[in-house]
Amino acid sequence: TLSWVATLPPSALEEHGVAKASANGLNVALYVVDGEYFATADLCTHGAASLSDGFLDGELIECPLHQGTFNVKTGAPVDAPCSVAVRSFPVKLQDGLLHVGME
Ligand code: FES
Repeated sequence: TLSWVATLPPSALEEHGVAKASANGLNVALYVVDGEYFATADLCTHGAASLSDGFLDGELIECPLHQGTFNVKTGAPVDAPCSVAVRSFPVKLQDGLLHVGME
């Protein structure tokens, strides 16, 4: 079953559209795209880079290390060298905080 873990207020995403949070000991990247919230694991599947340090372009997050991209809605790899999906998590807004659903 999913447990919902409280993370950041939506205002934390205002500046870059992406921010890092910790949920159950895992670093996650939270994103806002057209007013909808998404979350993935923060660690790039290609190398030791933090996706929350990357550049959000629409629904794509560009990794800061080699500029590969993932779709933040699904975690699917889009541009090389990313080829392995990054884990994605459901997000809901509750009591003024973004909650990430974790197994
Ligand atoms: Fe992310 Fe290489 S570490 S694209």
